[in-house]
Amino acid sequence: MDKLTLALSKGRIFDDTLPLLASVGIEVAENPSTSRKLILATSDPNLQILIVRASDVPTYVQFGAADFGVAGLDVLYEYSQDHAGGLYQPIDLNIAKCRLAVAVRQDFDYEKAVRQGSRLRVATKYVNITREHFAKKGVHVDIIKLYGSMELAPLTGLADAIVDVVSTGGTLRANNLIDVEDVMPVSSRLIVNQAALKTRSKSLQPFLDAFEKAALE
Ligand code: ATP
Ligand code: PRP
Ligand code: MG
Repeated sequence: MDKLTLALSKGRIFDDTLPLLASVGIEVAENPSTSRKLILATSDPNLQILIVRASDVPTYVQFGAADFGVAGLDVLYEYSQDHAGGLYQPIDLNIAKCRLAVAVRQDFDYEKAVRQGSRLRVATKYVNITREHFAKKGVHVDIIKLYGSMELAPLTGLADAIVDVVSTGGTLRANNLIDVEDVMPVSSRLIVNQAALKTRSKSLQPFLDAFEKAALE
């Protein structure tokens, strides 16, 4: 029987998933922040971990290259707009909690721009979520896709606003930006491949139960 495969991204999701694995007695031999290995063995010979980019976790799970994975609701929502079906999202793990928000330069009057019906230039990694958010508000936007360091966009004149992850607000403050609107609350979810859920439920179910229990504690 093939090993069960769990897809995780390195950094906060890997770090916050370790205690959940520990609650079922599983330890991971190496840490991706120091190891260059992308397939990590665990103390359970039937479980291995793939280290992938945060936004690639849904792809690995949807196509069955991993049986299950952990991804932020921001990433999942963005992904689901382009890819129907194939992912089962049973458990909110309550880790990597943050929110998506609209932020602007301190000297930009966002409310006024919205009131006046100005066309806004918004830079983000979350193109689908941003399009939907402003469409609901009836605000016209030109979206500029970025892959990181979104906070730079309003500072350099690339955009009027950004839609990005906010947690403590420290990054916005350090860059003289202010948060003007919530877009959605975010935490990480366990996602499971639909086919694996049917064909491998015997080996998967103990993990789903343990993750669910640990997430509630
Ligand atoms: P990449 O480096 O590949 O672009 P990333 O920056 O999205 O990926 P992480 O920073 O590890 O990767 O974020 C993973 C998930 O953790 C995000 O999708 C989000 O749900 C959540 N997250 C991101 N930033 C924070 C934060 N500052 N505090 C809490 N959770 C966060
Ligand atoms: C994330 C996100 C924000 C920041 C928000 O960056 O992209 O920049 O956290 O958190 P804060 O409100 O607590 O400052 P991350 O730490 O993941 O660095 P990254 O740019 O490498 O993704
Ligand atoms: Mg990040």
